[in-house]
Amino acid sequence: MKVLVVGNGAREHAIAKKLYNDGAEIVSAMSKRNPGIISISTRFEIININDPSNYEKFNSLDYAVIGPEDVLANGVSDFLEKKGIPVIGPRKALARLEWSKGYARELLTNYNIPGNPQYKICRNTDDVKEFLKQHTEVAVKPDVLTGGKGVKLTGEHLHSYNDVVNYADECISRDSLVVLEEKLIGKEFTLQAFVDGKHVEVMPMVRDYKRAYDGDKGPNTGSMGSFSCPNHLLPDIPITAVKKGEEIMKKTIESLNKNVGEYKGFLYGGFMNTSKGVYLIEYNVRLGDPEAINVLSILNTPFTKLTEEIIDGRLSKPHFKNEATVCVYLVPEGYPLNPKKDHTISIKEPASSELYFASVYTENGLIKTTSSRAIALLAKGESVKSARKLVYSDVNKISGDLFYRSDIAADF
Ligand code: AMP
Ligand code: GLY
Repeated sequence: MKVLVVGNGAREHAIAKKLYNDGAEIVSAMSKRNPGIISISTRFEIININDPSNYEKFNSLDYAVIGPEDVLANGVSDFLEKKGIPVIGPRKALARLEWSKGYARELLTNYNIPGNPQYKICRNTDDVKEFLKQHTEVAVKPDVLTGGKGVKLTGEHLHSYNDVVNYADECISRDSLVVLEEKLIGKEFTLQAFVDGKHVEVMPMVRDYKRAYDGDKGPNTGSMGSFSCPNHLLPDIPITAVKKGEEIMKKTIESLNKNVGEYKGFLYGGFMNTSKGVYLIEYNVRLGDPEAINVLSILNTPFTKLTEEIIDGRLSKPHFKNEATVCVYLVPEGYPLNPKKDHTISIKEPASSELYFASVYTENGLIKTTSSRAIALLAKGESVKSARKLVYSDVNKISGDLFYRSDIAADF
């Protein structure tokens, strides 16, 4: 099987590596030269991966797997499917679940799917003020993709009534609308699933660490690390909440299938378990980064079997090993606010971990940083504690102007 893998982060390195280890021939489309993906590709192209017309040159492929959401939002799946190449990754109209927050909310409302908090799609300042008559604690969400950096919450980023109105107005003037939601209080969890249009098969749960510094301090990042447990659950999320999240995802796919089209690919649901029940925070139409690395490293069923089943619409239950995983990201000094990019890093073979290249590139044989995350290390173990020990024993194998969080999975 010849498979096109699109994207050049650690998530896509993990996807490509697993497909490769399970027997696929890898062709890759990247915006930067990821050395890990290049090393297992028989052919690679450096292109603007978001522009569908750049995929004209890819032919004679069995199927494609797309990693990043912006590629999906730009309709690359639609383009490849028109060329006769099946894609693991939803078409643009289905990826709207992620690229329009307002659309995701309205879908749940229109098809009586549980999971929505109180919300209002606001098109002008009066709409915003109307919602603020009923709710003082709110989340202000741009409708569009913002790379996870657009949502602002009262108490954290917005400290007065005027702050809320001004930020909402800023979003409206840029995007013509903004979504206001009641601020939910509870424990967040995410569920990742394989989806073949009809069947939804969830993966082991993974907890990620979004803040830049130890103790959950500092600015939000793409995520600094993650862990998963041998029983595939998280210690602080009851199974009833997990089942509720799964139900919301299944009903969403059922409604899309009836009303929009067949969703094939990965679905990532972000949820909040509150005292009033489980609420959907947002959908992503892709795997998480680094969550993909955790789950793919313990996936026992050949990934190639699952991707083929997704294409054929006959997805079976995937099997995952009962092992713990801990992933730690090494990121450029100054990340995410003022990252040191284009600095050379050097790497010695890790003894106990798997190494995934993220946003780095090769130039004249050297590996260089960009302004985003650089290297992900992942270790497996019988327990979270043992996996954690292994992964931290390898962080000193990577040197350069980098830092990492030292408390990933420390409390478990
Ligand atoms: P999102 O980009 O929608 O995942 O939002 C980013 C983060 O904002 C989430 O991970 C939550 O921590 C937070 N968030 C989003 N919506 C809400 C909400 N309605 N109530 C409380 N927190 C929220
Ligand atoms: N780790 C968070 C995400 O991929 O959205």
